[in-house]
Amino acid sequence: MIAGQGAGERCRSGHRLATIAAEVGTPFYAYDLDRFRERIRAFEAGLPDVPHLTCYAVKANDALALLAIVAAEGLGADVVSGGELAKCGKAGITPASIVFSGVGKRDDEIRAAVEAEIRSVNVESLEELDEVSAAARQLGRVAPISVRVNPDVAGGGHEYLATGGAASKFGLERADAREAFRRAATDDALDPVGLSFHVGSQLLDTEPVLMAAERAAELWRELADAGIRLRDFDAGGGLGIAYDGGAEPDVQAYTARLAELAGSVEATLILEPGRHLVGPAGTFVTRVLHVKRAGGRTIAVCDGGSNDLLRPALYGAEHPITVLVERERERALVDLVGPLCESSDFLALDRTLPLPRRGDLIAVELAGAYGRVMSSTYNARPLCAEVVLEQGSWRVSRERGTYDDLIRNERP
Ligand SMILES: Cc1ncc(COP(=O)(O)O)c(C=O)c1O
Repeated sequence: MIAGQGAGERCRSGHRLATIAAEVGTPFYAYDLDRFRERIRAFEAGLPDVPHLTCYAVKANDALALLAIVAAEGLGADVVSGGELAKCGKAGITPASIVFSGVGKRDDEIRAAVEAEIRSVNVESLEELDEVSAAARQLGRVAPISVRVNPDVAGGGHEYLATGGAASKFGLERADAREAFRRAATDDALDPVGLSFHVGSQLLDTEPVLMAAERAAELWRELADAGIRLRDFDAGGGLGIAYDGGAEPDVQAYTARLAELAGSVEATLILEPGRHLVGPAGTFVTRVLHVKRAGGRTIAVCDGGSNDLLRPALYGAEHPITVLVERERERALVDLVGPLCESSDFLALDRTLPLPRRGDLIAVELAGAYGRVMSSTYNARPLCAEVVLEQGSWRVSRERGTYDDLIRNERP
């Protein structure tokens, strides 16, 4: 099913997805836990022998079944909300290995993080620094903080995925970052422990991160000269995956250079990969409801759409698509669209595929990251099911939503 796998393998996993579809219905996400574990282990094995901590970016996929693996593999987590922090707690991820990023943390979320004694609250504005200080003071604690500096480096697979440009809402400008450290160093409710940055997501060229890391190391040295000694050099996430079947970024070269830089300032290197670890472990499966012709095009209307997988509509993302057919079929140029009342509701446009028929299953590959987590109940469509596959067996890890779920907590 996944680019790079042989025909036999493709056939086996296709049958498995068809069996699952027959039992749980469509649409659903399937996560291959063995693959997720392998991705984590390969990433860890490739890291140079320097003090480091990999904090899985929970935003990429917060399914508890995956977070349990993150915990079991000894990884930390990068969270961006109180909800993600709570899910990490449930999954057994140690608070001391959790960093809390995010440009808009509410007071209650900051308090929860300080109370949980996480590794660091990564502050993104001077006001937020003051709020963390106030929360820590109120709780009688000292809050470890990291300052997220805006690297002023553009990078990311789409303009919405670039977070490190000069006018970005993320992080602090260099002068403000210096001020944040100065304030934190003289505030007995705060313990400045780290410097963090994040350039963007879906980076196939890691050069922008390395450039940002050089700048961060410069700032780190400046701070050290001013007597501010830090522990964590947090280079964020962003490693891209090859949705088009091309080359993946050179992960080893990237980690080697970051490790060298972190080593040069005697820091612990923190990395926050999300997509790289979980993207290839997920497949979104939907069924063709109708096939029609319009304006000379073949349109296959599926039961899953951008309410389930937003990436194509939001970023023009192109996932590998497999039509699960038993035998060879005529191929044609096809649009795969969803059931929603939006023209942007598509899974793939202009693809040459085996001509879909009503009832066919479609597998949207490399859908483990930023898939289900971005889904919604738009058009009052319940959230789809999730299943996990592990060592030849599978189970439902999250039931399909129901109509009751749609009105829970609602009062007419
Ligand atoms: C601060 C931070 N860390 C990590 C990530 C994870 O990025 P990715 O899934 O591309 O590795 C993001 C994503 O936007 C982020 O903003």
